Amino acid sequence: MKRISAVLFVLATALAAGKFKLEIPLGLDAFMPVPPENPLTPNKVALGRKLFFDKRLSRDGSLACASCHVPENSFTDKNPVAVGVFGRRSSRRVPTLLNRGYGRAFFWDGRISTLEEQVLQPIVNPKEMDLPLEEAVARLRPEVSSSTELAQALASYVRTILSGDSPYDRYLAGDANALTEQQKEGLAVFRGQGNCTACHIGPNLTDELFHNTGIGWKDGRFADPGRYLVTGDDADLGAFKTPTLRNVALLGPYMHDGSLATLEDVIEHYDKGGVPNPNLDIDITPLRLTATQKRALLAFLDALTGAVREGL
Ligand code: HEC
Ligand code: HEC
Repeated sequence: MKRISAVLFVLATALAAGKFKLEIPLGLDAFMPVPPENPLTPNKVALGRKLFFDKRLSRDGSLACASCHVPENSFTDKNPVAVGVFGRRSSRRVPTLLNRGYGRAFFWDGRISTLEEQVLQPIVNPKEMDLPLEEAVARLRPEVSSSTELAQALASYVRTILSGDSPYDRYLAGDANALTEQQKEGLAVFRGQGNCTACHIGPNLTDELFHNTGIGWKDGRFADPGRYLVTGDDADLGAFKTPTLRNVALLGPYMHDGSLATLEDVIEHYDKGGVPNPNLDIDITPLRLTATQKRALLAFLDALTGAVREGL
């Protein structure tokens, strides 16, 4: 199909300046926004990739970015919540880094708005790598001369981590056989009775907005206030960023606190209408799916697994 070849290897216009051709997989937006002050270049991507695996970025030399965002595991790990230096536990799960170049808000509560700012946070966070930036730069000298350079390289690398070209993308591009009959039924549930596309929409299957589905409402209170921490608005209590569903079959345990072990558990969560709480999103209501529909939805989620590309 013409459309496939048109979108397969598209040169994101913003990258032309740095003479770096990021191959955008089928199904993703051909245009990835890159800030003008940090154009993608092969050197920065290569440096960022190296730093991503560098344990010197953690206080005791035990952790690299890749220890939590494990490349072979779609850039997350299998823990319900993140485990940082000295076994310190965070209250949140490690999110995948797939397609984050398209992101508009980072962290589960969206408290950071650029990747350049984002990538330095885990280094200084006492519960993650716990290393002051001056010390990080001192350790990396002369390869890296400032925290800005460190941030720009890491952000550049993160932009190259992409997943697309899944059976779902090939189906949308016109290959009617890319999905099984059961997966096609699952897609119908995803878009119809399941109402999943109210939030999981667009090429990256997320609206990049914040919603309360009741995860984390325990014993009459929110274990984590979520988006409220950023806005101070009561309407945001217990709301978290809609995550991508790219490669979701490989990402468990699920949700911001890793509280749902399997995709079957996730489907049950939505089927019963989330967890009732004073701030439940209006788009979360009981779905009354049949067992056949649930199996079809599960099969469809499997069709979102694509090939992951990263680096140059
Ligand atoms: C100890 C585990 C751990 C390490 C090490 C770690 N991260 Fe993370 N990362 C997390 C957790 C947990 C979150 C989500 C935290 C939150 O939402 O409050 C996160 C979030 C992110 C996000 C935002 C993703 C999104 O969808 O909003 C990016 C980007 C990221 N990390 C990149 C990095 C980079 C680059 C490094 C290395 C400098 C790194 N991380 C090191 C655990 C880790
Ligand atoms: C009202 C918006 C909304 C709707 C509707 C919705 N989701 Fe979600 N989804 C979210 C948010 C927000 C999260 C993260 C919640 C959290 O961690 O507290 C999430 C998380 C998930 C996750 C976990 C992903 C991960 O990496 O942890 C899966 C899987 C998922 N949704 C699938 C679905 C399916 C399937 C449907 C339809 C049956 C659906 N969602 C409907 C907003 C929504």
